Amino acid sequence: MSDVVHDAESRSGGSRIANAALRSRVTSAEQAATYIQPGDAVGMSGFTGAGYPKAVPGALATRIREAHARGDAFRVKVFTGASTAPELDAALAEADGVELRLPYQSDPVTRAKINAGAMEYLDVHLSHVAQQQWQGFYGDLDVAVIEVSGVTGSGRLIPSSSVGNNKTWIDRADRVILEVNSWQHRDLEGMHDIYYGTALPPHRMPIPIVHPQGRIGELYFRCDPAKIVAIVETDAPDRNSPFASPDEVLRLIAGHVLEFLDHEVFHGRIPGDGLLPLQSGVGNVANAVMAGLNAGPYGNLTAYTEVIQDGMIEMLDSGKLRSVSATSFSLSPDAVTRMYDDMRTYRDRILLRPQEISNHPEVIRRLGVISMNGMIEADVYGNVNSTHVMASRIQNGIGGSGDFARNAYVSMFLSPSTAKDGAISAIVPFVSHVDHTEHDVDVIVTEQGLADLRGLSPKQRARVVLEKCVHPDYRPQLTDYLDRAAVSAYGQHTPHLLGEALSWHDRFVTVGTMRV
Ligand code: COA
Repeated sequence: MSDVVHDAESRSGGSRIANAALRSRVTSAEQAATYIQPGDAVGMSGFTGAGYPKAVPGALATRIREAHARGDAFRVKVFTGASTAPELDAALAEADGVELRLPYQSDPVTRAKINAGAMEYLDVHLSHVAQQQWQGFYGDLDVAVIEVSGVTGSGRLIPSSSVGNNKTWIDRADRVILEVNSWQHRDLEGMHDIYYGTALPPHRMPIPIVHPQGRIGELYFRCDPAKIVAIVETDAPDRNSPFASPDEVLRLIAGHVLEFLDHEVFHGRIPGDGLLPLQSGVGNVANAVMAGLNAGPYGNLTAYTEVIQDGMIEMLDSGKLRSVSATSFSLSPDAVTRMYDDMRTYRDRILLRPQEISNHPEVIRRLGVISMNGMIEADVYGNVNSTHVMASRIQNGIGGSGDFARNAYVSMFLSPSTAKDGAISAIVPFVSHVDHTEHDVDVIVTEQGLADLRGLSPKQRARVVLEKCVHPDYRPQLTDYLDRAAVSAYGQHTPHLLGEALSWHDRFVTVGTMRV
């Protein structure tokens, strides 16, 4: 990426706002929040704790509380890239100010409101959000509140540590509020690839990415300056949380994944030099697999993924990973410090793209991505639930897992075999909610082992999952279920006992354990 031409003006002087006309729009967060009215649809930046606005959401929450204290209604619709941070999601949810939220979230206050029925939540594939906004399903977008790391002399916007849906929110909003965060490293400039070639059918053209690091867009967001109603200057860190250091269970899961990759290389399905581009999901399990890969034999690796967690930074540091394409960072404070000390080196090997491109099904399919995502539970036939606890309660959301699972070359789902101190089995007769069907799931991994479901019929899959993935405490009762289903009179393609298929979940809800 050495041929990247930066906007020279943006680097002159001390101010992050190089455009004089726009500099005159600098104001306080409180003043900026007055541009958001009750009932507005607000598109905010932010993706897995990176690049979210740090000041305006809090000021908006204060306005909402004051309105409620006066007896006035004040709620807004909040659209983001994915999860954000307490300063945004929790602040607005605590103020009871969110009528509707989309797409992915992981905030405990928001989760509680959704599960209490006090907030509507649309859990959408992350690659679909932009197109659904253009299609009109979310109504008009009144305001965009977008964190940037600077404004160039010609008024273009330098993205910050995530891109997410920012391009769409800026394009579609009537009014734009910018937060220019000087905490974000100046040398983020040059790391972004903002593609302006998307369209609705029948005007779509191929997305011309043929290798993970292929640059197809621009360095900056375009924005009509007439729409920018306020600019707030901030100096505040992203939400950077440490990862749990891998325990024995996570190390075993990572070990099974590595063994599987060896097996695929041995059979010539994946090249030994560089494998195929990796996608690694959110959370501790995914991070542990990256740590395992970093200690393993493979080099010259690439990633075409959604978030860059610590594990990938360590692989860039070790040289095992050549380059990463993503839409956001999700880092621990230590990894941020390391990156900030040497941002230019990282910038040459990282591309941040809009999430409609980082998660684009066409590109994922073309590149042959190896996809690894966490799950809540899987059933013996290979259906996977990534989002719901006991059918009805949302945990986080589908995020990009569906974008990748359906289109990957190999789609793996990983989880410890039990949750809640063994009271829950992650392998059940029937998932209580389906995010990824048996047709989209190739491999299931727990610390017990790895089930390769490719080429197997439903009954064959069930026996492999039972043998490889189930915790020993649950093996007898799952064997019993399958044995009795295997002689039930009704149907023998995907045998089930309908009266019992969800009985494990029911037992947990009523007596606190899935164990018989
Ligand atoms: N039943 C009930 N709860 C379960 C469960 C199950 N079968 N399996 C896990 N949980 C609970 C855990 O107990 C934990 O609860 P806690 O927060 O109260 O401690 C929580 O779910 C998270 O589980 P954890 O084991 O810490 O896993 P994780 O951090 O790897 O997250 C997912 C797992 C599934 C929640 C997470 O990967 C996710 O949200 N995935 C969907 C989105 C996605 O895949 N994005 C990546 C695409 S790029």
